[in-house]
Amino acid sequence: MPSSKQQSEQERILIIGAGSKVAEAIVRTLAISPIKYSLQQITSGVSKNSHPDGKTVFRCDVTNRKEIKDFCLNAQPTIIINTAAYTSVDKAEEERQTAWQVNVSAVENLVAVCRLTDAHLIHFSTDYVFDGTHGPYTETDKPNPLGYYAKTKMAGENVCIGGSINHTIIRTNVLYGATQALKHDFVVWTLGKLSEGKPFSVVNDQFSNPTLIDDIGYLIEKILRKKTQGIFHAGGADWLSRFDFARKIAQVFREKEELIQPITTTDLHQAAPRPMRGGVIPYKAETMFGMKFSGIESGLVTMKRQLQVTGHHQWTL
Ligand SMILES: NC(=O)c1ccc[n+]([C@@H]2O[C@H](COP(=O)([O-])OP(=O)(O)OC[C@H]3O[C@@H](n4cnc5c(N)ncnc54)[C@H](OP(=O)(O)O)[C@@H]3O)[C@@H](O)[C@H]2O)c1
Repeated sequence: MPSSKQQSEQERILIIGAGSKVAEAIVRTLAISPIKYSLQQITSGVSKNSHPDGKTVFRCDVTNRKEIKDFCLNAQPTIIINTAAYTSVDKAEEERQTAWQVNVSAVENLVAVCRLTDAHLIHFSTDYVFDGTHGPYTETDKPNPLGYYAKTKMAGENVCIGGSINHTIIRTNVLYGATQALKHDFVVWTLGKLSEGKPFSVVNDQFSNPTLIDDIGYLIEKILRKKTQGIFHAGGADWLSRFDFARKIAQVFREKEELIQPITTTDLHQAAPRPMRGGVIPYKAETMFGMKFSGIESGLVTMKRQLQVTGHHQWTL
């Protein structure tokens, strides 16, 4: 049993966006951390991935300043982790108002709350803040966002930085990993396409370093211990094209690699422009926290094992 002193010193963590992949990975990691945290989550209900129970997961709209302020004044979190985001890169070109509300106005609300409560804000951002002319990028490279999603994420970062609060920004890219609800990511999409048994196309000229969500959970645990501030890049050990990533997925999950056909970005006609040579170099985080981000093969093997354990499907090693 923790002493009353330990209990009073326990960090009170509030995760925003309970339905996100990252939230699930963080909760998973903190559950096995030797340090015990008081953990609450809020969900907007948009994703339908999370189930408010009124005990640890609560319904609250982070885009509504009064709602989130009242919630936080009551819960008094010492650390707020914002994983909520409007992440549909192409749809954001059309649904600009919603994208701005979630990716910028909500961050303004959280910054205002942190100013009132002295909470530390940990906020997630993306390699899309860069234009992709010469990635992968370090924390000191100059951002130049291309599409509307990218611009909102850049604006969200700026809100944190200019907010006069304790904050940490984590820029990551192409997240993948096992989740209870098999939430959408590139691996799940590719496996779905492979299971249809028909040829399909994947771009061979967009480069990134895909990131296992479990590594993000581990990074957050490290940041929580030291309450480290600043910008951190969080990306996997291998930098490759989407086409090569898709082929690697087929190999690890023993599916038909030959169904995957290369296509160029120009031929794909995506609504939003993409950083072609994106990705983030994670050396700062790896050095500071003594950790190593997974490479593609080991990340996919981890994901496959976890999916088998949760009984999601038939794939065998
Ligand atoms: N996925 C990637 O490849 C990637 C790459 C780079 C950066 N990132 C960043 O990493 C963070 C986490 O990404 P993720 O992929 O884990 O997220 P995700 O799975 O796409 O989930 C985002 C969550 O945001 C919440 N949300 C969505 N629309 C909302 C709205 N209108 N109002 C309030 N909340 C809303 C939803 O949670 P509730 O339904 O629980 O509210 C949703 O589950 C984001 O900041 C994202 O920009 C992701």
